[in-house]
Amino acid sequence: MRQYIHIIWLLVLPALAHASSADVLLLKQARAQIKVIAGELKQRVARDVSAKGAENALASCRLQVEGLTDRLTMHSGWEIRRTAFLVRNPDNQPDPWEREVLDLFAQRKAEGVDLTQYEFAKVVNLDGKRVFRYMKPILMQGFCTSCHGSNLSAEVRARIADKYPDDQAVGFKPGDLRGAFSLLKVLPGDPP
Ligand code: HEC
Repeated sequence: MRQYIHIIWLLVLPALAHASSADVLLLKQARAQIKVIAGELKQRVARDVSAKGAENALASCRLQVEGLTDRLTMHSGWEIRRTAFLVRNPDNQPDPWEREVLDLFAQRKAEGVDLTQYEFAKVVNLDGKRVFRYMKPILMQGFCTSCHGSNLSAEVRARIADKYPDDQAVGFKPGDLRGAFSLLKVLPGDPP
């Protein structure tokens, strides 16, 4: 239980005594990176969609462009990705742990929890290693619908079909849980 950090604990400060200071530091690093990455990604997609049209801005919604993740992995050793139940890029499919956390996010949303304030972190055993894992929900916004909504233009549909023939990431509306950022860092020491 010591390694279990949950947003509820973070809102109730005395409960932080249950998490080690190392875990709290990792949590702060994860949050700081997400803040910058999510902000920059959103800004870039919005800018490119209005400048070039959605059909010419597909590549803007990739973490890899312009070395974003390399540049923004401010603290060494972190891996950063996005995942979802329904993915556009098959590389973004969730692993079993990510799937469980996505399930938890979906469940909380169904219960009426405000997911903008929600996150999940845990130290786990991943392939025999001690690993800090962190996930933060990604919610749909209005301008995301030009590429992830129900009424895609013919041009956008054609470009997506060309690049992502197995696309599942459509039919979402603003406010929906679109997916999540997923961060991990391998730690020294024995796995839990
Ligand atoms: C111009 C089109 C476009 C817009 C607008 C757009 N996306 Fe994307 N989105 C894509 C493409 C293309 C991918 C696949 C990227 C890749 O290859 O990794 C993607 C992937 C994703 C993924 C990763 C999971 C997956 O499906 O592969 C998430 C999460 C995501 N988008 C969320 C959003 C959100 C939230 C918004 C609005 C803030 C948004 N997108 C706006 C085109 C778009």
